[in-house]
Amino acid sequence: AIDIRALRSQTGLITLDPGYGNTGSCESAITFIDGEQGILRYRGIPIEQFAEQPNFVEAAWLLIFGRLPTHDEYRGFAADLTRHADLHEGMKHHFEGFPRSAPPMAILSAMINALSCFHPELFELEDPERFRMAAARLISKIRTIAAYAYRHSRGLPYIYPDPQLRYVPNLLHMMFSHPYRQWDCDEAVCEALNLVLILHADHEQNCSTSTVRMVGSSRANLFASCAAGVCALWGPLHGGANVEVMQMLEQIHTGNLTAEEYVRLAKDRDSQVRLMGFGHRVYKNFDPRAQMLGRVVEGLLTRLGREDPLLDIARRLEEIALEDPYFIDRKLYPNVDFYSGIILRAIGIPTNMFTVFFAIGRLPGWIAHWWEQNQQLDNRIARPRQVYVGEREHAYLTMGQRF
Ligand code: ACO
Repeated sequence: AIDIRALRSQTGLITLDPGYGNTGSCESAITFIDGEQGILRYRGIPIEQFAEQPNFVEAAWLLIFGRLPTHDEYRGFAADLTRHADLHEGMKHHFEGFPRSAPPMAILSAMINALSCFHPELFELEDPERFRMAAARLISKIRTIAAYAYRHSRGLPYIYPDPQLRYVPNLLHMMFSHPYRQWDCDEAVCEALNLVLILHADHEQNCSTSTVRMVGSSRANLFASCAAGVCALWGPLHGGANVEVMQMLEQIHTGNLTAEEYVRLAKDRDSQVRLMGFGHRVYKNFDPRAQMLGRVVEGLLTRLGREDPLLDIARRLEEIALEDPYFIDRKLYPNVDFYSGIILRAIGIPTNMFTVFFAIGRLPGWIAHWWEQNQQLDNRIARPRQVYVGEREHAYLTMGQRF
């Protein structure tokens, strides 16, 4: 539906498009989405084709540099990621200042921004080599920051990155290895996690990516721009939805509500409740990412020899919603967040880290967009207008005149 109005404001003619539903903010060659057909392609490659041998590092390179890497390029990038995994000792001290209960997304955003303090030499906007170095550092260090945020919240000692391990096993190693090495040789877990990260890696002008571009349009550095992206992602209507999905499923599981009652509540606007993990601004038929994750979750649980009652509840909710005219009429289908949480939970990732994992996945997309924008000759600072609806003019009142 087109919801765009041209309004005569007090300062001229302005188009008003709440939530930018119909406003293109840029030209981009990174990700193609056809919401009606459920198509998602990274640099032209259908998302389904990444599922065979999911490799997040390769997908990251593709998004950022525009084509699949050669063998040497891939090895060079992977080596950079290994080389830069450590955090500066000064960065590590920051963790001690956060309370144990600090939300990991707050820590993630703060620490990514703090990278600006340790790598000012990488601020040079025009130099591709420096950009490559900044991108590799960021993609590598976000893992270490995420793992340390987790360890800090548990009061556990930090685990240094292991240069022998690849990207995903190293992340799991830094989170869980000591005192037990649980996952780092489990192919099924690493494969599923690689796929989860790939499916989150870019999604054109979503809220967090637009935020990165908005901040970057002022010529802010890559670290600062991506830190802002983390903040935008945090909200429950965006990346935070994967946490809300789990809370919804738990609520039903503990017997407070049946799936039918929950769906009824979600249809009632006054309840302020939504069926979390459902609906999307762009996908109006199905979200291919949700379909892929829906298929992976069964296989993973089987490989791990586990059952998860929350999966049955999710399936039941999906069944009910897909037959309900409310959801059919509004074209509301499961989105990427609907099944991702069940996969992360099966791997042992605590719920409060779910959105952090989304951020790790989305980072290559943010970086790609930041760089694309910087390369565009017509890059202007983002500066939307508004339609002012307040009082035209009002005299200043001294304190004694106010009542
Ligand atoms: N449950 C119940 N009703 C819903 C839902 C939902 N999940 N989503 C949308 N609706 C309804 C709205 O109430 C509205 O109804 P109305 O026409 O009677 O007023 C209609 O569908 C359109 O909804 P909008 O909020 O206008 O759609 P918008 O495109 O702005 O929002 C969004 C998309 C934020 C994803 C929304 O569907 C939502 O809140 N979903 C739940 C949260 C969620 O899963 N977020 C993750 C999105 S994917 C991602 O960010 C990675």
